Parts: sequence; C-alpha cells; structure tokens
Amino acid sequence: MKQPNLIAIDGPAASGKSTVAEILANELNYMFFDTGVMYRAVTLIALNQISDLDMEHEVVAIADSIEIDVRKPSKGDGRKYDVWVNGKDITWEIRQPAVDANVSKVSAYAGVRTAMTSQQRRIGMKSNVVMVGRDIGTVVLPEADLKVYLDASAEERAKRRHAEIISRGDEADYEKILESMIRRDKIDSTRAVAPLKPADDAVIIHSDHLCVAEVVHKIKDLFAT
Ligand code: DC
Repeated sequence: MKQPNLIAIDGPAASGKSTVAEILANELNYMFFDTGVMYRAVTLIALNQISDLDMEHEVVAIADSIEIDVRKPSKGDGRKYDVWVNGKDITWEIRQPAVDANVSKVSAYAGVRTAMTSQQRRIGMKSNVVMVGRDIGTVVLPEADLKVYLDASAEERAKRRHAEIISRGDEADYEKILESMIRRDKIDSTRAVAPLKPADDAVIIHSDHLCVAEVVHKIKDLFAT
C-alpha cells in the first residue's frame, strides 16, 4: 500500500488510539484529530447549561450551535492539544468524571452525531490527517485509505487509564474505572446510530501485549513497500 493520506483509527475507550495517532501524525507530518473531544465538549456544555441530559432536543441544539476549536497545545502540562469553546479553555474540564459518565449518552443522540460528523468530514477532507474515534472508518471517512481498529481488553484499558490519572497527580479507583469502561463500551457499541465496530476493511490490532512503539510500527508496516 502507498502512504495513505487519510488514516482512520477507531477503537474502544483507552485503547491507546490517541497516543498512537499523535505519534503517527507527527512522524508523517499529518494533522492529528481526536474526534472524542467534540462529543466531550458537547457533554460538558450540556451538563453546565441544562438540568437533564435526557432532554435530547436541548442537547442537540447545543451540538448545532457550539463552536469547538482544537488548537496546538498552549501549555506543557501533558495536553496533546488545546480545546476551546466560547472563548474558554476546556482542555482538562472535558476529562472530568461527570463527562466520562455522560458522554456515551450524549454521543448516542442522532442529531448530535449529524452535527459532529459534518464538522469532522470538513476537517478530514482538508488535509493529510490521522483521525481518531469510534466511527471514523465506518461513517465519517469511509473513503479513508487506511483503517485501523485498535482493540485491548477492558482490564488492560482500565489499567492504562488508572495509571494515566495517577500520573497527573489525581486520585483513581481501578474498579470504578473498569466498571465505567465496560458500561461505556456497551452503550457505544450497541447504539442505533454509528455504533463502535471495525469497518469491514479495517485492520484489527490487539494491543494488550504491545507497547505504543510496537503498535505504531505495526501500522507503519502496513504501508511500507
Ligand atoms: O475517545 P473518547 O473516550 O474521548 O470518546 C468519548 C466518547 O465520545 C465515547 O464514549 C464515544 C464518543 N465518540 C463517538 O461516539 N464517536 C467518535 N467518533 C468519537 C467519540
């Protein structure tokens, strides 16, 4: 395969998609775009503005009007990028447990997905890009010339997420993380619109026993002559 211009990387929460995609994008000098931040931003604003996230119509109205700006990182505090909404830096706020707990519900709303998918397609068609999410290979960029589905067991992913939170100096409970991971996987993969699943033509990589460098290497091998 020749070097692909559009690379889609999908997979469940904490499968290492963003870390791998960022390295790959840097090495290829491509844009890195993590679509999960958009669903997280809508969820954060919805939590701040409306009393009940079951009010689908109100949540979709937020998704339709929100301007999410993803920029180069402005601080060396471990962030891969800045996320701004309405003139406010929300990069870390979108990682808080309340967002983790509600983002699957918000991202299952068809109207929210329509709004986010069209923004993501516009970004994806503009340049060489490594785009990360749940439905990039199946819905957002079905024309991507390389599709990877990065998987790992729930236990391994919970272990990684736990270590990541601890390394930021925050407190974390492994059992709670595992429970929330399994719950999110279930909602993400059983929703009616754009469920989490590998595209028919995706290359599936299991990363339980692979380090980040090995996963990057495996992906690059797919398009080395
Ligand atoms: O990758 P993440 O954990 O930041 O994603 C947050 C949530 O957003 C995840 O539970 C599912 C949803 N999501 C989605 O439905 N489609 C995408 N393309 C990206 C994320």
